[in-house]
Amino acid sequence: ISDISTTVNHDKLTVLNVTDSTNVYVKKNLNQMTSGDVCLAEAQTAGRGRHGRTWVSPYGAALYLSMYWRFDGGHQALSGLSLAIGVAIARTLKALDINDVNLKWPNDVYVSGRKIAGVLIEVEGQMGSACDAVIGIGLNMSLPSNITGIDQPFTDLQNALENVPSRNHVAALLIDNLNTVLDMFSQHGLAGFVGEWQMLDIFSGEQVKLLIGEKEVHGMCAGINDSGALLLDLGGKLEAFYGGEISVRAV
Ligand code: BTN
Repeated sequence: ISDISTTVNHDKLTVLNVTDSTNVYVKKNLNQMTSGDVCLAEAQTAGRGRHGRTWVSPYGAALYLSMYWRFDGGHQALSGLSLAIGVAIARTLKALDINDVNLKWPNDVYVSGRKIAGVLIEVEGQMGSACDAVIGIGLNMSLPSNITGIDQPFTDLQNALENVPSRNHVAALLIDNLNTVLDMFSQHGLAGFVGEWQMLDIFSGEQVKLLIGEKEVHGMCAGINDSGALLLDLGGKLEAFYGGEISVRAV
């Protein structure tokens, strides 16, 4: 995937063959990067998922992409970022003519009810000052049929489309959408994406349970707020739940 750079503004694109994790690579090389730079790999030997999980990353079977973005406003400028990234991925899939795209709070991307992409954002920097975000995206393209180690229903582009586009094409589209979304997010936060996110919400209007550590909360999904918190209707009372180690499940 070496000829993509021509389609991407002025940002630097590093394409690796095999690496431990593209997020780790970007974090290690932050001092040589400018906002918008991207690292892609053909395979990862220690791909990272959310909640400390492993992200299975076989050779050539998915996009493994990390983008570096610098935020001037410090940590508070990042609230809702993962949801905006979900919108960028959803736009990319729609541009590929995939229609049945949904987002699951905070940042999983589904096609026909199965996970096709995940987002892991890692942030460096101190409270109050500018901070560096490493936005890692895994987008399944053509996973081997005998793949093991994925603990939930999943799909890939090969399954969703008759003709699978090249990874170059998908990467270029995704990077383009990320730039558009991040430019707007940097200026105005999540507010401009709330409507679009809610249209794609996989649990919109449905009863769910939130797993917050040992605690379970039951309620009806009522969208998100401008900070990216999940709004649950707890029998007439709306309550906002903020990211961290929360999982949402159907009931
Ligand atoms: C999830 O658990 O849903 C998030 C998965 C994120 C995987 C991507 S692949 C590219 C980048 N590098 C990593 O090690 N993780 C992210």
